[in-house]
Amino acid sequence: MGKTINAGLLGFGTVGSGAARILLEKSELLEQHTGTTIRLARICDTDIVSSRGFPVPPEILTNDVRSLLDDPTLDIFIELIGGLEPARTFVLEAIQKGKHVITANKALLATHGDEIFDAAARYGVELGFEASVGGGIPVVKTVKEGLVANRLHTVMGIMNGTANYILTRMTEEEIAFQEALADAQRLGYAEADPAYDIEGINTAHKLVIMAMLAFGAPVKLSDIYIEGISKLSPLDIFFAKEFGYRIKLLAIARNSCDGIELRVHPTMIPSEHLLAQVGGVYNAFYFIGDSVGKVLLYGLGAGQMPTGSAVVADVADVARNISRGTLGKVASLGTPHDMLKPLRKSPIDSLKGCYYFRFSVVDRPKVLARLSGILGDLGISIASVVQNGRGKESSVSVVMLTHEAHEAQVREALRQIGSMDVISGETMVIRIENLKTLDENI
Ligand code: HSE
Repeated sequence: MGKTINAGLLGFGTVGSGAARILLEKSELLEQHTGTTIRLARICDTDIVSSRGFPVPPEILTNDVRSLLDDPTLDIFIELIGGLEPARTFVLEAIQKGKHVITANKALLATHGDEIFDAAARYGVELGFEASVGGGIPVVKTVKEGLVANRLHTVMGIMNGTANYILTRMTEEEIAFQEALADAQRLGYAEADPAYDIEGINTAHKLVIMAMLAFGAPVKLSDIYIEGISKLSPLDIFFAKEFGYRIKLLAIARNSCDGIELRVHPTMIPSEHLLAQVGGVYNAFYFIGDSVGKVLLYGLGAGQMPTGSAVVADVADVARNISRGTLGKVASLGTPHDMLKPLRKSPIDSLKGCYYFRFSVVDRPKVLARLSGILGDLGISIASVVQNGRGKESSVSVVMLTHEAHEAQVREALRQIGSMDVISGETMVIRIENLKTLDENI
């Protein structure tokens, strides 16, 4: 029998229960895969009374986090309480005490990553965070190890199950935003604060982590341009379909000649692209590397057992490394800590791309000419125009798709258009990614 590795789990909620269940019920399988015995020595939570639906030895349950942090026999500290504090304090203390840390806490890493990755490197402990991005999809390991031979040109993905679930229901069933959000919350996908999901913050946390892995640079939340999905109307979903697109909340990191673009926003993508077919709570990660070409990973990006699976994968890695003496073989971020390079970021104003505009205007002669005049003067060329509805002096939607334009010019055009007397409501702007299908050349 191999070495016994002791793990302590803090946070017995949705993900914690999934991880604990796997560790308790699949100990034989894990022993077979890792050659070690992984012992879940302690589970700490404020609620250790409610049933989680599977048997838990009562002697391992505790309300006292000190019984994990102060136990020198505990090799691995699993943090699944989420949030910034006290998670940050506990994680740093565990690292300082030489414990290897596993976390699913994307907000923590996106906010205090500098401090935490630095501490892990200084104290020589492993920091596993597979569960922080993409739920059960092994996306962290893929970038850190599987794609190491590549300069990544693009890292793009549908990284929030709740937002994708809402957009899918709105697209397929034409239901209202609030109804879809309520269902996502009931199914346990949504964050405690739903704004994180629908305003793109949770996606941006994940993009911070992906970009650090992909580009070997420290990245902060403030480096990401963020727009959420809460302003999208059923009209936008309708027009997107009419033009042959689907709207997805995409996280995009692209290594362009101006630097690295880092952005999260609703995006129109061609409906025949595989990313457009990713529905419901599923996530997908799309990479373009200079050696490998295109890679697409697909799976459940949230939920108890998929995310628990990712936590246990990290625990198994640490257990193997302890027992084989290979700790530190792969740096936490793939790139060794002292080799990280400063981020060369491309600002959002430098972006070039195609745009969808939905103007709410009063239905009068010459309105279209005035809109297209402003756009034309700024060098923005219109590819298609559609007007929806008709009614004297009543508000109608005028939808335009542009050819490639500069974001800075688009912003200036929208500023000028916003002050026109015929504008009767907020203008909706959605960026378009005219992605080629996977078998077309890059
Ligand atoms: N609330 C997240 C989602 C789950 O919906 O994808 C984990 O980040």
